[in-house]
This record gives sequence, structure tokens and C-alpha cells, in this order.
Amino acid sequence: MSQLAIANTDVHTHIPSHADHAYNPEYQYQHIQVNPVTVRIGAEISGVKLAGDLSSDVVSEIQHALLKHKVIFFRGQQHLTDLEQEAFASLLGNPLNHPSVPIKDGTAHTLSIDSRGGRADSWHTDITFLPNYPKASILRNVVTPDVGGDTVWANTTSAYAGLPPVLKTLADSLRAVHTNAYDYADHGVPHHAENTVENRKLFRTAVEIETEHPLVRVHPETGEKTLVLGHFFKRFSGLNSTDSRYLFEEFQNHITQWENIVRWRWAVGDVAIWDNRATQHRAINDYGDALRVASRVTIEGDIPVGVDGRPSQVIKNVKNQDISNLRSEEGRIYEKAS
Ligand SMILES: [Fe+2]
Repeated sequence: MSQLAIANTDVHTHIPSHADHAYNPEYQYQHIQVNPVTVRIGAEISGVKLAGDLSSDVVSEIQHALLKHKVIFFRGQQHLTDLEQEAFASLLGNPLNHPSVPIKDGTAHTLSIDSRGGRADSWHTDITFLPNYPKASILRNVVTPDVGGDTVWANTTSAYAGLPPVLKTLADSLRAVHTNAYDYADHGVPHHAENTVENRKLFRTAVEIETEHPLVRVHPETGEKTLVLGHFFKRFSGLNSTDSRYLFEEFQNHITQWENIVRWRWAVGDVAIWDNRATQHRAINDYGDALRVASRVTIEGDIPVGVDGRPSQVIKNVKNQDISNLRSEEGRIYEKAS
């Protein structure tokens, strides 16, 4: 399996060098079937029943497919429970709990993505206000609307590769502040507005975290350059809000070009895993008042490093409320019974 050797991902600052990148995009899979959805992004994986006791060979191939295709899809995983999903997730790394969204009751690391609690309908990368924002997210569909409710992902690596040279040079030099004070899911739905408002207030106020990331991150496993942007962006370092907004739109528009995007129509039991270091995603809010429920586990990433070797830097980290005693269920948050 030497072809498959994947560099260690330190949770600490780590400056990637070419020597680290044992990732071989031409590797031929022995244990899983990988069918790309598009050339740039997305692949459907078959021949795997996800579980906490998968062999290391299968897990290595899943990780490889994730690096290569950025988001991978598994159909028919109805056998998974939240706890079995967590057990599988732990094979990919250390689960990372969200600092301001309570976990689902009865679980250790699971977020309930429930349309009664809000809808993540703008482009983002998960939790980029953290310095060690997730390297991967694992989302399992539980309830699918009859119509609509798809998710789309964009490849931020091919977006960088497609920039004209002058914009690459500019991007390489920029650093951006990300914060939880801007909330992508802050779009209520009338029938559940009370839940939504409460959840999103907690999201913004339980912690106040700002981290400065390089706009261009060197991916620690593939060595590819990838853009770090999305909805938690606040401003570019050294630029005012007007210039920041113009440049944000410029780079964000490159990321979300149709050619960088894959769209997934969910069925119950589908699991999507994305490389959160090389993608953005958003839900499509086109299913009216119907219910959509999914379970998500995120895996801790390492600290990003720019093309100049400079790591990301925490600017602000204030904890206003301990959410460890809170739980969520059906879009509502309540105090844990003990
Ligand atoms: Fe998300």
C-alpha cells in the first residue's frame, strides 16, 4: 500500500513540503468501486458498507477517493445509526464538536441538521472561524423531502487552478479573517421561526471566534493550492470592508462556477463525505415547508498554512456560554437531563 501512503496530518502547525505528498492521484483501487460524477468533483463509491470496523485497506482507499474527488457519495447506508456513523467517522480522524451548536441527544459528536432549526443555504466551508476547522464532514441523510432539498459542493482547488495568473498572485498574498458572528444559516422559515432564531442566536453568541487564514491554503495531504473563503469570511487583512467585499465576490464567483460544482439528490440512507479543506457547499432551500433531517459528524483538521509558509492565526477566542450541557432534538435546543 505504499502508493497509498498519506502524510500525517499534525493537529499542530505543519509546513507542508513536497516530501510530504505521497498522494498519488493515479492510484488504482483494489477494495472499492469509484465512479466519478464529474471530472472535477464528486464520485459515487460502491462496494462498501460503512461501519466502525472497516479494514484499514478500505479506509485508506476511501480517504484517497476523498482527496481525489473532494466529495464522495455512498448510497444505501440505512443500516447506520448515529453511533455507528460516529464509529465510522473516528476511522478518519478525531471527531470535532462544534463550539456553539449543541450535539444531538444520545450522541457524542453528532450534529442534527434539521430544517426545523435553520437552513444552511449559502456557500460555506464548515466552521472556518476555527483555526483547526474540519478536514472532513460526514453527512448521513435521514429524512428527505419529496421534492427538492439537494446539496451542492464546489471544488476550491480547481477554482484556484482556474484563476488567471495575476489573480493567483494576488490570492497568494491575501489573508482573511473568518468569524462566527456572520451566520450563513440565519434565514428563518416561518413555521419554525422561533427555533431558528434561538438556534442562530446561540450560534453567534455562545462563542466569539475570529481566525485569520491565508486565502490560499496548501493542502497538507495533496500539496494542492486551494482557496479558503465562504460565508464565515469577514474581511481581508489590511483592506477596508468595501474592498474586502469586492474581492470576496471576485474569488467567490470563481469558486462557484458551474464547472466546479456537483449536485446531489438525496435518498434516505445516502452518506456524503467531503474534504472540507478543498470544498465549499450549500443546501438548496427549495422544498417549502417539508422536513429535511441529516446527521453530521466532523473530523478535526490541522492548522492551515499559506504558500509563504505562514500558518493561520487566532485573533479572538471568547467563550460566553458552555454548551456542553445543552442538547438538540427536532430542531430544538434544551438543557440536558441528568
Ligand atoms: Fe455546512
